[in-house]
Amino acid sequence: MKRSEQIFLRKLPRFSAKDRKATLVIFDHILTKWVPGFSTWISRFPNAYPVKAGESLKSLRSYSDFCERVSRTAPDIRRSNGRVLGIGGGSVGDFSGFFASTYLRGLPLELLPTTWLSAIDSAHGGKTALNLLNHKNQIGTFYPARKIYLVRGMLEVQGKSLEEQAWGELAKIAILDGGKWTYSLNRASLWSVLPQAIEAKWKWVLQDPLETKGIRHALNLGHTWGHVLEAAKGLSHGEAVLRGIRFALQWSFEKNYLSERDRNHLIQFLGSSRSETGPLSRKQATAHLLRDKKIDPKGLRFVFLKSKSSGSKNKIKPFFESVTLPQLLKELERQGWLKV
Ligand SMILES: NC(=O)c1ccc[n+]([C@@H]2O[C@H](COP(=O)([O-])OP(=O)(O)OC[C@H]3O[C@@H](n4cnc5c(N)ncnc54)[C@H](O)[C@@H]3O)[C@@H](O)[C@H]2O)c1
Repeated sequence: MKRSEQIFLRKLPRFSAKDRKATLVIFDHILTKWVPGFSTWISRFPNAYPVKAGESLKSLRSYSDFCERVSRTAPDIRRSNGRVLGIGGGSVGDFSGFFASTYLRGLPLELLPTTWLSAIDSAHGGKTALNLLNHKNQIGTFYPARKIYLVRGMLEVQGKSLEEQAWGELAKIAILDGGKWTYSLNRASLWSVLPQAIEAKWKWVLQDPLETKGIRHALNLGHTWGHVLEAAKGLSHGEAVLRGIRFALQWSFEKNYLSERDRNHLIQFLGSSRSETGPLSRKQATAHLLRDKKIDPKGLRFVFLKSKSSGSKNKIKPFFESVTLPQLLKELERQGWLKV
């Protein structure tokens, strides 16, 4: 897999008239309302398609409707050396990436992430996705964008709640990168930390680009339980991941992998999440866990955290251990995530 080129900009990129003609833009329609000057900028692209962001965009129905729409309205896109530019948060990125990787057997992809979550995490690493029957990311491809535009003016119009949602994935990357920068990171400095966060994610991705060696699995830290909370409680992805990381680090401490000092520091670093969620029933949790494509009735490879000796460069290291579903449920119950 070729690493994407990152282009850091203050304002929206300029394209020549020829490039604009060859670009099929898929953009979150909400941006025309939120970002000053965006409506004028986007109106210069003859093939720009507004979409409604969210999980329903990542469905087979919306994919097939979209392909038919493009086929009817932009039949010349391949001949004009076309490329796809996805502008929006993670849902628009996942959808645009899947579309680009499959339409006409593949068109070059560029992304312009507009939420902190997508700028920090989802735009990088080449995963595209659609959902199936309400289960997340069941269909997808590995198809990295050749260019990713990180535009400060687009990102800084977001409200506090989207910053909050990004914190989960940023915290994950900081912990996976050895935990050193969890001592200096704060929520007010998202733009300045972007290059570091992207670099840290690529370190994992490039060791295992197609997820065949198991190394990239570390990026699932906090996601096993996080995905359940996202689906069952309707939390945002980032908020759910934050809770999932808390569960993982408590379990790591309980198993004596993580020192008390590191556990306490990381709990403090993760901070409090806005709304607390009530516990789930065991039946509900089991049903959701079994939908996770990484879990089967025998169990899963859970991402734990380990404290390293005080002399080592990185203080914390992720590692995997097979756990059974009953073990996972027992620990969830012990930590109070399940109704007793
Ligand atoms: N491919 C990957 O590696 C990967 C990794 C993590 C998450 N994801 C996916 O990313 C998605 C979640 O990401 P997200 O929260 O960015 O998705 P999103 O696209 O649903 O955006 C969240 C909300 O923010 C709005 N928005 C977008 N840009 C804005 C801006 N600049 N100002 C104000 N509002 C804006 C959107 O309209 C939407 O309502 C999920 O579908 C998740 O599965 C993918």
